[in-house]
Amino acid sequence: MSETTDEQVTMRITGAVREWDLGATCLAALAVATGAAAGGALAGAARDVMAAAGLDDALADPSRLPFSAEQVHGMAASPLLQAAALLDGSHAGWSAHSDETLIAQGRASGSAAALFTRFVLPHFADLADRLARPGARMLDVGTGVGALAIGYAQAFPRLHVVGLDVEPRVLRLAQAQISASPVADRVEVRHADVAELADEAGYDLAWIPAPFVPEPAFSNGVARIAAALRPGGMLMIGHGIYEGTELENAIARFKTVGYGGTPLDGDSAARLLAAHGLTAVRRVQLPPGAPGLTVGLR
Ligand SMILES: C[S@@+](CC[C@H](N)C(=O)[O-])C[C@H]1O[C@@H](n2cnc3c(N)ncnc32)[C@H](O)[C@@H]1O
Repeated sequence: MSETTDEQVTMRITGAVREWDLGATCLAALAVATGAAAGGALAGAARDVMAAAGLDDALADPSRLPFSAEQVHGMAASPLLQAAALLDGSHAGWSAHSDETLIAQGRASGSAAALFTRFVLPHFADLADRLARPGARMLDVGTGVGALAIGYAQAFPRLHVVGLDVEPRVLRLAQAQISASPVADRVEVRHADVAELADEAGYDLAWIPAPFVPEPAFSNGVARIAAALRPGGMLMIGHGIYEGTELENAIARFKTVGYGGTPLDGDSAARLLAAHGLTAVRRVQLPPGAPGLTVGLR
């Protein structure tokens, strides 16, 4: 049996660090290239990185993307800010993040409505009609700074969105974002735990992100939401993706522990939806980087 030499151990560490540094630095370059400070030497060098990565044409013509430049900036900045917050050892769940981190994560999740329109709705023709009707209602669990709720209200001009969150600080940020948006009359946020949801037969669409909602609030919340859906309404569970390499799966679990939520996989999400009597349960494939998504109809 050949022994690993000290040189090989050293190379393994330095090689891994180099590879991960490249990924983190590419995210930083994407954030700089799509950020507010578009001029200057740093922005020029960031655009060179994007060109070398083959992304310059996609970024030059945002009309070809289902995301705004601001949302792409959030996608790049949010994981970096969240990872940095893990470093001081005092990380205490989602609520400990800075306003800047919460807003970046909100921007990233603001693209959810565009992904829903492109990747979910084509499989559910009746739902598209339902969301276009007067009186259509959506429940956004863990509404954070309200960006996902605002995105859905913008995508569906008759939709009224109710956002729930347990954190008063994020709800203050949400209220400011909603007031500054063109859909302030159709988005409301409530300080409430999904496990206590008491509305019945009130929603056409509901979203709950497992990685951010801890047990037992998550399981109790799914039961409450299923009861609160209108017949034909859809419950979407966002969850981790644990079908990758060992490293990808371990990273998905690490992130969920950092968020303080529930490490649910797609099969467990499907079983949970079926156990609450939902039908047409299916996994929806979203582009890389998006959460896992499993949906069912009441
Ligand atoms: C990642 S954030 C959501 C980001 C959001 N989509 C946006 O646009 O900003 C997840 C949120 O879930 C909230 N949350 C966690 N447990 C909850 C519960 N039991 N009921 C309601 N919200 C909860 C957290 O406080 C956190 O703000």
